[in-house]
Amino acid sequence: MNLAGRSILDIGTGTGKWAVDLADQDPSVTIVGLDLSPNQPEFVPPNVHFFVENVETEWSESESTRTFHNRSTAGSRADFRTCAEEAGFVDVSEEIFEAPLGNWPEDQQKKDIGEMLASSFKMGLHGLTAKAFQDVLGRSKEEVEVFNAFVRRELDRNTSKLTLHVSVFIARKIE
Ligand SMILES: C[S@@+](CC[C@H](N)C(=O)[O-])C[C@H]1O[C@@H](n2cnc3c(N)ncnc32)[C@H](O)[C@@H]1O
Repeated sequence: MNLAGRSILDIGTGTGKWAVDLADQDPSVTIVGLDLSPNQPEFVPPNVHFFVENVETEWSESESTRTFHNRSTAGSRADFRTCAEEAGFVDVSEEIFEAPLGNWPEDQQKKDIGEMLASSFKMGLHGLTAKAFQDVLGRSKEEVEVFNAFVRRELDRNTSKLTLHVSVFIARKIE
């Protein structure tokens, strides 16, 4: 896909690595990265802008963007089908599959997938729990941090055969 000159919205940008790498590769693109969690680097290329926002509520940076990137927004319940259709995508389809979380599978390909997902899950854990556990469950910031540390330790121990339901959206854009 030729992204030259585009404005891209990276939903659930996480550490912002995808956005920064792309901005470095192509200075003609402008990327806005949104995430619940302020996990992004401070010094970034001038064509990247990060904002702490919840994509499930109104957010201010979407109007000027034309291209959406969304790689793994774990835990978000946003209506991506509607978002994609409103952004001009057609033939939007969703595929849901069960993927391993952790490198417990014996099959090498599934092991690699599980390891990658566990690493991404650990990075996104703060964003997953920060709002929901404090605002909805009424836990303190410290309680949430302790809980997250426990979850990370369980993932590292890798003794439970954990799985995740992963939703993949595929769509076409008519230029
Ligand atoms: C598994 S990480 C993936 C990060 C990055 N997209 C990548 O592929 O490396 C999922 C990210 O989605 C963010 N996220 C989940 N729900 C969100 C929401 N409602 N609004 C904004 N970000 C959200 C989390 O904070 C987390 O950083």
